[in-house]
Amino acid sequence: MKPIGPLMWEHRLIEQMVDLLRGEIDRITDRKTVNVILIEQAVDFFRTYADRTHHGKEEEILFRDLSGKALSPDHRRIMEELIREHIHGRRLVRKLVEARDVYLNGYAEALPHMARELNELVEFYPKHIEKEDRGFFFPCLDYFTQAEQDRMLQEFRAFDRNMIHEKYRSVVEHFLGKKVMKPSGTG
Ligand SMILES: [Fe+2]
Ligand SMILES: [Fe+2]
Repeated sequence: MKPIGPLMWEHRLIEQMVDLLRGEIDRITDRKTVNVILIEQAVDFFRTYADRTHHGKEEEILFRDLSGKALSPDHRRIMEELIREHIHGRRLVRKLVEARDVYLNGYAEALPHMARELNELVEFYPKHIEKEDRGFFFPCLDYFTQAEQDRMLQEFRAFDRNMIHEKYRSVVEHFLGKKVMKPSGTG
């Protein structure tokens, strides 16, 4: 498998979450109510899966290795755009959390605000994904030898293996209010 394989599979799951949220926007608009559990899970999905796990592999492995290559000006520009878009995506999730908190504090008028923030997210992600899938990932592979691609895939897998531990360590640290010791050899 090529290293872009897992990244593209992850895009497909992100798209399905985006579809779920499109349905939720319709419910907010039609029925003036929201499934707060779905919103809660979606926030966790975007933070832990789409950002930390997926964008994490892109930025900390793929883009890091690409930075060391003689990229064409076009590819360098797209990579910089993608990094800026990741930052934008994080901001959109923060804004959704803010709208959700206002709603949960009893302000029903925050509902249309939440729908707007959700709408920004469902508009943003598919465009970002399309830019990577169609215009970036495949040409990127040409910068790497087969051995480099194999190593990258191994590094992706190690990165993923660590995620479940990082996630639940962060849950405990959040409620404990302090850092928890990591087993040696983990991130
Ligand atoms: Fe990305
Ligand atoms: Fe991506």
